[in-house]
Amino acid sequence: MALWGGRFQGETSALFKLFNDSLPVDYRLFEQDVVGSIAWADAIASVGIITATECSDLKKALNELLVEVNSDPAIILASGAEDIHSFVESALIAKVGDLGKKLHTGRSRNDQVATDLKLWCQSEGAALLARLQSLHAELLALAEREFDAVMPGYTHLQRAQPITFGHWCLAYVEMTERDISRLDDALTRANTCPLGSGALAGTAYKMDRYALATALNFASPTLNSLDSVSDRDHVVELCSTASISMMHLSRMAEDLIFFNSGEANFISLSDEVTSGSSLMPQKKNPDALELIRGKTGRVYGSLVGILTTMKALPLAYNKDMQEDKEGLFDVVDSWTICLDMAVLVLSGLKVNRPNALLAAQQGYANSTELADYLVSKGMPFREAHHVVGEVVVAAIAKQIPLEELSLAELKAFAAVIEDDVYPNLTIEACLAKRDVLGGTALPQIQQAIAAKKVR
Ligand code: ARG
Repeated sequence: MALWGGRFQGETSALFKLFNDSLPVDYRLFEQDVVGSIAWADAIASVGIITATECSDLKKALNELLVEVNSDPAIILASGAEDIHSFVESALIAKVGDLGKKLHTGRSRNDQVATDLKLWCQSEGAALLARLQSLHAELLALAEREFDAVMPGYTHLQRAQPITFGHWCLAYVEMTERDISRLDDALTRANTCPLGSGALAGTAYKMDRYALATALNFASPTLNSLDSVSDRDHVVELCSTASISMMHLSRMAEDLIFFNSGEANFISLSDEVTSGSSLMPQKKNPDALELIRGKTGRVYGSLVGILTTMKALPLAYNKDMQEDKEGLFDVVDSWTICLDMAVLVLSGLKVNRPNALLAAQQGYANSTELADYLVSKGMPFREAHHVVGEVVVAAIAKQIPLEELSLAELKAFAAVIEDDVYPNLTIEACLAKRDVLGGTALPQIQQAIAAKKVR
């Protein structure tokens, strides 16, 4: 039976019930609803609505319900209740009779659902922070294993300058650190308790909302009841933090899909995270990475969904807001499994060092070095850039790398070039020269890894 029958004479249609009920989605807030109800029992006892004995009977029944549902979760959906709040209240009444009907005094499903959802965001957020930390640790471990494996760095997907695989890993470490700080920040802002805001105007019972917030492990109570019941910033922020993190995971996936391609062949992915083709026996496809890239789209979709749902809602609660959960739950599930999958992919990833090195040696990735060499001989950089461009054209015509041009051939482009040019054109020299904070030189990579590890 619905919680709100008195006002109505006719039955609601089956189609309306199907349309209106949120239990098939919000059953996931069961634990939070029980925890919130236990805190609410204490709050109404503190203002004399129920006696201490009634309060402990209610809490005992709520705790029993928690155990019962944990051992048979199917009873929630089998109940046919309108939503998780109705389910908990009906189950309570079935256990303790009329006393159960007292629990909702001074409370509304509006402050209740806002509280449940914030509690859920806090607990899932903590789990996600731990997962981001695992990704951070896995990227650092890979950076350490492969810190000196040389590969080409790209701009425009054109070979640009040699870098090391450790340097590539550390780029994603930086992104992950920003994601961690963003999530942490969002959770801090969402750490306020709406319970006691009533339907919209505040509860009619003068309770200590600070104590209520503390009982539910929130840092403080919310300060405006209209805002309390209509605020879904925490949903938006969790979805937007997830979207940014997924954007990073997707770029990482894209990089690795390319590195793993037959054309690049810089890395090998473990059998654990790849799959075969039903037709072509030779294939070993990077499905895990493609799914990370693919799931990014649906996470963005949910972010845009919740923003669009909220954009024109008048204060305070509107039923539109019931649509907040499906997208959020999907975002958290997708983000969670993608983080776990990224960790698994990285843990089994091997760099094919000879191939990656060979690619770094090809494609004229040492052209900047030749230009810098000319600068060291007194030529202005813009002129050096032009001269080297001409040298590259000549080398391409001969199908040889720059360092295989003879001194006489090089001198034809710039008389200042001497024999000492050749040591400047090696991969080792290219890397060693970038010995500046944030650069790809091996000492910089080693220092960065060490600094991140003590973070
Ligand atoms: N199932 C509802 C939701 O998720 C609970 C709040 C209902 N409040 C109301 N005034 N009808 O938003």
